[in-house]
Amino acid sequence: MSAEKFHVLASCSTSKARTGVLSLLHSDVETPIFMPVGTKGCMKGVLPEQLEQLNVQILLGNTYHLGLKPGPELLIKSGGLHKFMNWKRSILTDSGGFQMVSLLKLAEITEEGVQFESTYSSPASFASQKRSRSKKGSLTEPEPVVSDDETPPGAAKERLVLTPEKSMEIQNAIGADIIMQLDDVVSSTTTGPRVEEAMHRSVRWLQRCNEAHSRKSEQCLFPIVQGGLDTNLRRECITEMTKQQQQSVGFAIGGLSGGEEKSSFWKMVDVSTDHLPASKPRYVMGVGYAEDLVVCCALGADMFDCVFPTRTARFGCALVNTGQLNLRLKIYSKDFAPIDPNCVCLTCQKYTRAYLHHIVTDLPTSARLMSIHNIAYQMNLMRQIRESIKSGRFPEFVLNFMEERYPNGS
Ligand code: GUN
Ligand code: ZN
Repeated sequence: MSAEKFHVLASCSTSKARTGVLSLLHSDVETPIFMPVGTKGCMKGVLPEQLEQLNVQILLGNTYHLGLKPGPELLIKSGGLHKFMNWKRSILTDSGGFQMVSLLKLAEITEEGVQFESTYSSPASFASQKRSRSKKGSLTEPEPVVSDDETPPGAAKERLVLTPEKSMEIQNAIGADIIMQLDDVVSSTTTGPRVEEAMHRSVRWLQRCNEAHSRKSEQCLFPIVQGGLDTNLRRECITEMTKQQQQSVGFAIGGLSGGEEKSSFWKMVDVSTDHLPASKPRYVMGVGYAEDLVVCCALGADMFDCVFPTRTARFGCALVNTGQLNLRLKIYSKDFAPIDPNCVCLTCQKYTRAYLHHIVTDLPTSARLMSIHNIAYQMNLMRQIRESIKSGRFPEFVLNFMEERYPNGS
């Protein structure tokens, strides 16, 4: 894909915020944008048609989960994930390594790729090397792939490897508009030589991803900048990656939002946006708290994703300008107001806090109504950011937002 897919329409004169349009194969995406996460090709409780109504422009899926189930063969047979899940707008897939490391804790990283021991049965999508299962030394027969929470007792343990090539093969089969390189991710609080090693390995894996990427005219491959909390490593990573991938449509900033100090987090975003090309969108991975979205937009970031809004919805928490309402609390049992009287979402138009409190344990209904509101909240926040940048009122917007969120200045 050529580099002229992103057009900046307006920039803030006192911060690095900008608004623009990213033209992808399935749809145009207005930036800054928040991408809700539908890990397995499904947004728990919300239909694709409803996501369209909520003005969701791009969804995020995960290579690790989709590669295991339904797997690349079935995805190719079904015509790709868009068709399979009936989603006509854009999709971005994360490369899988980050999920393996964060979910499994058993992952081991070598130059070849990310290896882990799985109780899943031989998914065809991952390079696997069977090992003897028990003292009897028997090799297990392949079994149907099961999901994370359905592991049968006594399931085979296998050594699975996700390499840059495998990640590309699966992401090419999924067919997302934006695909991510496999990167070597270390926790943002890691220090020492491991951080530098991971940065350099991510640069090498980017090259392998680019060579293995077989659908360049349809899918944009985003490099992921690593380098921990070290400004020099971040700069070096950007120099290497921009040199290597001059044709890249956009860049991601990874390895953040993992428990580091806010000041370090912002500094890393700041130094990254200073050095990444201004003509390309910058995607800060794993960011979804409203205040982080506002600050990162001011620092020149354009794209974000996070499970937070939809996950917290399933725990009964509704996002509002002042923070969150925990609707499980008894104080809401007789509160007949909507979550937010200014919100135009279906949930706020038709249901009260008291009713949402009452059904909070009825997960399918509660998850749906709460997710609809929280996605609407994120979409509305990003729309307000875009509009304020366009009309030259972004600094005023930030001030009002922060005053409402932190009324006592704390
Ligand atoms: N999601 C959140 N952070 C990261 C990261 O650093 N790399 C990848 N691949 N995914 C992420
Ligand atoms: Zn609402």
